[in-house]
Amino acid sequence: MPICLGIETSCDDTSVSLVTDKAEVLFLKNQSQDDIHQKYGGIVPELASRNHGYYLLPIIEEALKVVPKEQIDVIGVTNRPGLLGALLVGCVTAKTLSMVWDKPLIGVNHIEAHLFSSYLWSQKSQHTFKPLKFPSLSLVVSGGHSSLFYVKGVGDSILLGSTLDDAAGEALDKFAKLLGFPWPGGPHIDSYSQKLNFQKNTLFSKIKTEDLDFSFSGIKSAGRRLLSKKSKEWIQENLPEICASYQEVIVDHLLEKLKGAFNKYPSDRILIGGGVSANTCLRSKIEKWAKSAQVECFYPEKVYCTDNAAMVAFTGLHYFLKGQSSSLDIPCVPHHTEKDFFSS
Ligand code: KG4
Ligand code: ZN
Repeated sequence: MPICLGIETSCDDTSVSLVTDKAEVLFLKNQSQDDIHQKYGGIVPELASRNHGYYLLPIIEEALKVVPKEQIDVIGVTNRPGLLGALLVGCVTAKTLSMVWDKPLIGVNHIEAHLFSSYLWSQKSQHTFKPLKFPSLSLVVSGGHSSLFYVKGVGDSILLGSTLDDAAGEALDKFAKLLGFPWPGGPHIDSYSQKLNFQKNTLFSKIKTEDLDFSFSGIKSAGRRLLSKKSKEWIQENLPEICASYQEVIVDHLLEKLKGAFNKYPSDRILIGGGVSANTCLRSKIEKWAKSAQVECFYPEKVYCTDNAAMVAFTGLHYFLKGQSSSLDIPCVPHHTEKDFFSS
């Protein structure tokens, strides 16, 4: 049973995991830095890197109590995209372990890792192993990314569309900040939206874009405009409706593009991933549509929606099983490169 040690430090979560080729998560620990960054209303890159430095090695020590290093076959680490200083902490650590333990190293693309996160399970899960199936269609929605992929295999996906400006999670978080919610605000918008029996959005217009690309800067500006025109009392009284309307516009835009992609690239399976995939409204709308379109839809368990090292370990392990590995000089790349997704 091959096992991969995964390390994730691309943003503000320090995470370490041990995962098998059957997607079973043997160990996962995420050290969130939310309380550190909350007072700044967003991530401070310098603080993120520094705290990864404090947290990472003690978590790896904990992981090794569950599976000793002799039983680890390969080390997978997020090396792109992300905050450069934050990526460096994880990569330098992974490279050092690879050298000292004499184990292969795999640099993993964080977005590709989100893409496969819905396969992960543990002894506490309701489901167990589901073999990978291709081609699949995948929607990855997080604080930094909103992208649609046609997935032909591990390391073989076509990017069908992505955001032209802000990511969906960013639009939720920035609006939530204006509403006074703690950062990150996406989950707060989600839970406030559930405080009413929401009927219809009458506050915001639908988002329109060409092809399969997304855009969330317009709704973000519309949100800011609405709040600047209304009194504090009105905003407080109508908070659930404001949240539900704003959220629905974003969810409908994501669903419209997902349906568009499915019409162009029919697939047997849809994989949803990224922090925003935890959203209740998004899940229920996709679920309803998937049922009517008779397509199987996989969502990650909540713990695997947001950034975590289990998805990195699982993806890295599949590259290893394909006979690939990275050299010790793999770079940390803050942004995507052309060749990242446009493979065969
Ligand atoms: O994947 P992730 O942990 O980090 C990035 O790679 O960006 O995603 C974090 C994002 C944040 O924008 C957060 O507000 C959003 O996921 N998020 C949610 C929910 N849970 C997390 N957005 C809407 N509804 C949720 N329940
Ligand atoms: Zn992420």
